[in-house]
Amino acid sequence: MTMQAHEIRQKFLDFFREKGHLIVPSAPMVLKNDPTLMFTNSGMAQFKDFFLGHDTPPAPRIADTQKCLRVTGKHNDLEDVGHDTYHHTMFEMLGNWSFGDYFKKEAIAWSWELLTEVYQLPPERLYATVFEGDATENLAPDTEALELWKQYLPEDQILFGNKKDNFWEMGETGPCGPCSEIHIDLRPEAERQVKPGRELVNQDNPLVIEIWNNVFMQFERRADKSLRPLPAQHVDTGMGFERLCMAIQGKTSNYDTDVFQPLIQDVAQKQGCATARPTKPTSPCG
Ligand code: ALA
Repeated sequence: MTMQAHEIRQKFLDFFREKGHLIVPSAPMVLKNDPTLMFTNSGMAQFKDFFLGHDTPPAPRIADTQKCLRVTGKHNDLEDVGHDTYHHTMFEMLGNWSFGDYFKKEAIAWSWELLTEVYQLPPERLYATVFEGDATENLAPDTEALELWKQYLPEDQILFGNKKDNFWEMGETGPCGPCSEIHIDLRPEAERQVKPGRELVNQDNPLVIEIWNNVFMQFERRADKSLRPLPAQHVDTGMGFERLCMAIQGKTSNYDTDVFQPLIQDVAQKQGCATARPTKPTSPCG
């Protein structure tokens, strides 16, 4: 039977609790104490001072599900909302963090375990990207992440990505580091035979999408644009809850999952529409 959204969320939290993480509540979406950010744009926002070494976390390992808004600033998805099936103004980000505790090995191993064993997503449809390095910033390729991924994925399912896709920064300033994204190919088998999924990673295909980002926080971007190495190395991950539900529930749109359908159906009914077809938004009643 299909896993429901609330079970998917709970399994994430249970998984990381079992791996020694403290589960904390979602922070408010409107940030009060950070002039560099208007809204919480990812799970790590409430933990910024822990990464920078300005404050001490309540535990070295934390996990949660965070309500996020990406409508302004560096991470702004507003142009895509309403035009595609997988971006939202407000969304939920599942995340796990290590504050100077575990690093790449555990983060990658646990991502793999959760996706393929707990959620039973097919390994042959998963792709990992790793940072190719950037000479202008004096940043080396992330061969460590590459070697780790090779334990789980054949090399043709691992790709190098540039600074735009594989070096995550909170905002114009703040904590940042190389990242390793996990993408999933949800296209029908026949299409996959014609064109391999690796050719569609990060190409805006609505069925070959990023579901999870593992950031290896190692720097602070300063106002003068320089990178300062952080006092310790941290892990910051973010998984798109609605996208994960789409993948697990075998849907082709986030709006067709049970995160949205009860609401959409209810609105349709109240509007007097017989059926709601949210993936073809040509008219309010499809
Ligand atoms: N903070 C990282 C992101 O939002 C995980 O992609």
